[in-house]
Amino acid sequence: FPLQIPELAKGTVLMRERSKVEETIQAMQRAGAGSLQVISDFDMTLTRFAHNGMRVPTTHNILDNRLLINEDCTRRIRELLNTYYPIEIDASRTAEEKQPLMVEWWTKVHELLIQQKIRKDMLARAVKESSAMLREGYKVFFDRLAEHQVPLLIFSAGIGDILEEVIRQNHVFHPNLHIISNYMDFDRTGVLQAFKGQLIHTFNKREGALLHAAHLRELQGRPNVLLLGDSLGDLTMADGVSQPQNILTIGFLNDQVEERKESYVNSFDIVLVKDETMDVPNAVLSYIT
Ligand code: TMP
Ligand code: MG
Repeated sequence: FPLQIPELAKGTVLMRERSKVEETIQAMQRAGAGSLQVISDFDMTLTRFAHNGMRVPTTHNILDNRLLINEDCTRRIRELLNTYYPIEIDASRTAEEKQPLMVEWWTKVHELLIQQKIRKDMLARAVKESSAMLREGYKVFFDRLAEHQVPLLIFSAGIGDILEEVIRQNHVFHPNLHIISNYMDFDRTGVLQAFKGQLIHTFNKREGALLHAAHLRELQGRPNVLLLGDSLGDLTMADGVSQPQNILTIGFLNDQVEERKESYVNSFDIVLVKDETMDVPNAVLSYIT
């Protein structure tokens, strides 16, 4: 590989247009770390999809702990997951068709959670007791970006309070971090009463990007974007970047690989098939910075 990035030659790496990827990385390298920002999804992008054959929980699923919710609530949230997750990843439906169904899923789950009177002071323990896990190589990823003062915007349809706690417990909550997510709203006694702001689900990240990104001053004047996601909906996370110059998108294809391979290769610049590591993003970053 001419770019001296041997990780891109791995069998798990798919690229529609290798030469375009090379040119983009080279342009980003010439512009340097001062022109770069990283925008990443959280669940199943920064966290692992599976470990030792077991699914790793998303931020919503981390709440499945008796400290926070009862058995009946667990059962209902699981039923909703079984109904809506196959729709979320269905290659035969468009994002437009999925939109209203995702709103339905998130709204129902958030209503169930609010009924449980979840206590803020129990969240850290629930995260500790969960099997949440960031991808292998996460520390190099977070630390390098902080070291080079490259802003990292995490844009998640998960739960902000939970993902912050996962990042904190892994000791990588650095000052270059910005988060857009669904945050819990607690009453004065520390009990969950609502979710703040406009709901973010997998297929409305464009609206969230346009709404929030303009307010994040640290992201301005950084026209080069490395975008990481695991859903086609994640591709719109950079829509709030004003006057972008080079955007390199990396997609983790974790599930339904054969059904979705074609659409992922047509949509992301680099597709990583069943890769539980940050090796490729880390190699690209080490070349650029
Ligand atoms: P992300 O934007 O950080 O990837 O978070 C959204 C993911 O959360 C999405 O892939 C679906 C998943 N999810 C659950 O696992 N359980 C739920 O109850 C809900 C509403 C979403
Ligand atoms: Mg995700």
